[in-house]
Formats: sequence, structure tokens, C-alpha cells
Amino acid sequence: MMKDDIEEILVSETQIREICIQLGAQITHDYQDKKPLLIGLLKGCIPFMSDLVKHIDLYVDMEYLSVSSYHGGIASTGDVKITKDSDISLKNRDILIIEDIVDTANTITTMLEVFKNRGANSVKVVTLLDKPGGRLKPYTPDYIGTTIPNQFVVGYGLDYNELYRNLPYVGILKKAVYSNKES
Ligand code: PRP
Repeated sequence: MMKDDIEEILVSETQIREICIQLGAQITHDYQDKKPLLIGLLKGCIPFMSDLVKHIDLYVDMEYLSVSSYHGGIASTGDVKITKDSDISLKNRDILIIEDIVDTANTITTMLEVFKNRGANSVKVVTLLDKPGGRLKPYTPDYIGTTIPNQFVVGYGLDYNELYRNLPYVGILKKAVYSNKES
């Protein structure tokens, strides 16, 4: 079964629920006079974005962009590509980018630059997971669910070769799964 491939649960379903409640309340407070444009970066954002928005008590627009840099492996290539762009104008909008993870920060710093160049009024970032040990450039997200060690994680949107996104928690994959050795 899929769950047998997980060595250890790093962020449990209960913890994720608490994070969504807490960040949702904070975002509701911080954007109370605004109508933010929430932008999810596909595909990893899906579970977190769908749970987080239920705890944001504001009028919001929701949009999705496809951005890819990992190309299915376990290390970022640093090559960020927009493969599906926004249908909504970003001009003068208060944008909140929703991410599952900030690792090297290549993706998010590229997207911040793109959105600012398109005339956004403000651009902030909420990420479920922050992995500061993976950084290739200095960057701190505005809203962080939890900080994790520099390990490869899957689940709750995060994949390995497109699998494991449907795990209800974030976990560490057994090394045997990607090194073809028995554990
Ligand atoms: C993952 C994740 C972030 C990005 C973070 O996306 O969803 O967008 O990598 O990594 P970075 O900080 O090193 O740039 P990925 O490109 O794997 O696409 P996916 O969401 O479709 O899995």
C-alpha cells in the first residue's frame, strides 16, 4: 500500500488542520479591508489551498498557475517555467501566493518578480512548509505553516514522480523507494 512507503510522518493531519485555522485567522485579520487574489501554484498547492481558504473569512478571488521546476525528481533544477498562466489581470491586486513548500526559493522568488512586474499592488506568500536548509538564495515567506528539516518530503500535495500527493499528511519517504534498495 502507498502508506507503507512512508518512513515517518513529519506533519500530521491534526497539525495541518491547526495550521490552516491559525493562518486563515491571521490572513483574515491582515487583509480585512482588501479583496485579495489568492494564487495557487499547481499542482502541489491543491490540498493546502482548498483547506486554507475555508478558514479565510473574506471576499477573495482564486486563481491557479502552473509552474514547474522539479520535473518529477527529488532535487530542484532551478529552471522555473510557467506552463499555465493567469486568466485574471494582476494589475493593482493584492496577491497572496499559496505554496505547499519553499525549498531552494527559486520558484517563489521568480514568481514574486513576475507578479511585481505585472503591476500588482502587493505580493505576499503563504507556505505550508518552509525548508530553510534547502535555500539557494535568501528568502523568508510572509506566512509559514511549519519549518521542516532539509529532507525530501511527500504528501498533502507534494510528490515523488507525481505520486503521494494524496497522502493526508506530510511524511518522509523511505530511501528504498527512490534508491531501489530494500530497507
Ligand atoms: C514544488 C513546490 C514549489 C516548488 C518549491 O513544485 O510545489 O512550487 O517546488 O521548490 P523551490 O523552492 O526549490 O523552487 P514543483 O515544481 O515540484 O511542481 P508541482 O507543484 O507540480 O509538484
